[in-house]
Amino acid sequence: MSKLFEPISFRAVTARNRITVSPMCQYVATEGLGDDWHVQHLGAHAFGGAGIVFTEATHVSAVARITPGCLGLWTDAQQALAARLAALIARAGAVPGMQIAHAGRKASSARPWEGGKPIRPEDGGWTPLGPTAEPFYADAPAPHKLSVEELRVITGEFAATARRAREAGFKILEIHGAHGYLISSFLSPLTNTRNDEYGGDLAGRAKLLLDVVDAVRTEWPDDMPLFVRLSCSDWVAGGMTIEAAVEVGTLLAATGKVDLIDCSSGGVHRDQKVPAYPGYQVPFAEAMKHGTGLATGAVGMIVAPEQAEEIVANGRADLAFIARALLADPAWPLRAARLLGAKPPLAQPYHRAVMP
Ligand SMILES: Cc1cc2nc3c(=O)[nH]c(=O)nc-3n(C[C@H](O)[C@H](O)[C@H](O)COP(=O)(O)O)c2cc1C
Repeated sequence: MSKLFEPISFRAVTARNRITVSPMCQYVATEGLGDDWHVQHLGAHAFGGAGIVFTEATHVSAVARITPGCLGLWTDAQQALAARLAALIARAGAVPGMQIAHAGRKASSARPWEGGKPIRPEDGGWTPLGPTAEPFYADAPAPHKLSVEELRVITGEFAATARRAREAGFKILEIHGAHGYLISSFLSPLTNTRNDEYGGDLAGRAKLLLDVVDAVRTEWPDDMPLFVRLSCSDWVAGGMTIEAAVEVGTLLAATGKVDLIDCSSGGVHRDQKVPAYPGYQVPFAEAMKHGTGLATGAVGMIVAPEQAEEIVANGRADLAFIARALLADPAWPLRAARLLGAKPPLAQPYHRAVMP
């Protein structure tokens, strides 16, 4: 019996298996509005058999976008597209999940294939927002240092996006608290040198995340799961470590509002040295799970079905988040099912694909 293909429940939501499409920016939206690209892209993953299909980072406002091509959810038109996406994913048998995000000081960047560098306001970009006025790139324009009042506005934007996601039919939300974006830049001591209530010790640095969790939960029903993605290491001396991330996880667990920590790493500092190898972040998911009692997601260079099976079968994580292997082959879960001897996760109209 494959554990990877055993259904799993969080609150009132059940996924058909533990394969989770990790959020993947496509950079092809226009003013935050997606189109047929997103329908086809996410639909392919749902048809491919994953248990949970997450949207790419979906931003809470125009200035929260990483690039001009990033997806958002702050208008009615964006919500209408979101409703199409959620309905299609669900019809194909997967749970529709949305990652909600604010890019913080990494906002207003060019698309990766256009170099990824900051776009200055005079070149059509906008001023990024950060815990301090220190930029991510040495040669970038200074971000605007957010006031406490402005942080409250952003917290409200997360709640408004959560409401729209619920109305659109999404069943799982993930707060993006990783990779050096806004929440992550508040968590890391490398980037948050504030001395007000949103800085200082770990509790202060985690305050923005905890405020966002509280705000999102005012709009996100009790019977629907809420995940948080964290960078469990900055891979730079003096930055976040797995021990500090487990402390953040413990604060999240104490709220009773969060169901799973998706354990990623990096993206906070330009000097990071990431020792990437297959499964390199799995020990973070393991430590987080044992340290907090929360469910966890493992992510990062999970490529082989046997590797994903090992992670969940040995209780090292509850979900296997997979990005690039699924980008290369959206039908990876169908192939994995065959390999692991599980029933193929096909939508009803496709059941006749299985020949005796
Ligand atoms: C094209 C692409 C876009 C990505 N966009 C996001 C994103 O929107 N949000 C996020 O948290 N991570 C994003 N990531 C990171 C992935 O979710 C994942 O954590 C990372 O790629 C490691 O997993 P993998 O080795 O299976 O690819 C992206 C990765 C890729 C390859």
